Amino acid sequence: MRKKVVAGNWKCNTTLQEGVELAKAVNSVVKEKGANDVVVVLGTPFTHLSKVVENVDTKRIGVSSQNCAAEAKGAFTGEVSAAMVKSTGAEYVILGHSERREYYGETSEILNKKLALTLENSLTPIYCCGEPLEIREAGNQKEYVINQLKETVFKLNADDFGKIIVAYEPIWAIGTGKTATTEQAQEMHKDIRDAIAAQFGQEVANNTSILYGGSCNPKNANELFANPDVDGGLIGGASLKAEDFIQIINAY
Ligand code: PGA
Repeated sequence: MRKKVVAGNWKCNTTLQEGVELAKAVNSVVKEKGANDVVVVLGTPFTHLSKVVENVDTKRIGVSSQNCAAEAKGAFTGEVSAAMVKSTGAEYVILGHSERREYYGETSEILNKKLALTLENSLTPIYCCGEPLEIREAGNQKEYVINQLKETVFKLNADDFGKIIVAYEPIWAIGTGKTATTEQAQEMHKDIRDAIAAQFGQEVANNTSILYGGSCNPKNANELFANPDVDGGLIGGASLKAEDFIQIINAY
């Protein structure tokens, strides 16, 4: 059965020292993992990965980068490859976040290369999808999001698709304080799961964790996570305060 996952996305926040302190604070309260427990992931800047890995119980907390290069290695100044991420002890890579699509021109073609490299390096992609406000207002969100999946992760084989985590993040809800209602979240998560079932079969769909992201906080996490097709959250702002992030983990 699919796992429940609460993943923090620190974005471009925290110095190394602040990040290590935040990781330590989360680590100190996250208990030994039981079979049904929530998988906790910290999505840190590249510079923090190895130090955060050293400072958490990696049996209990997974560490994630927020991106990786679209090439395996070579003359790509400033890029960080999937193999480099793997060598830090991190286990996850957030891919396709709307901020990367919008500000750094990440297309489906680029994301397909990143997905392949992430999987080749035995890292788990946390693959983000989600619609902008105008698409939601026009009522075309389902078509838009399923198309994002069709152009990328639906091109994987079922075996590889089975290794990924999907995060649905409506762009209008990211960092805006405007959360999707519990009905809006459940409806889209169900649509995504149905599309996965149509593509890869019901068993793969039942085993895929689909996280909600977008202004998830200690007050609304409980209600959002209570939806049958919401398997946890990708948390931005509220993952930067240990108490808030812990409350979200404990919302299950
Ligand atoms: P937010 O960000 O929780 O600050 O809205 C979520 C995300 O972008 O992953």
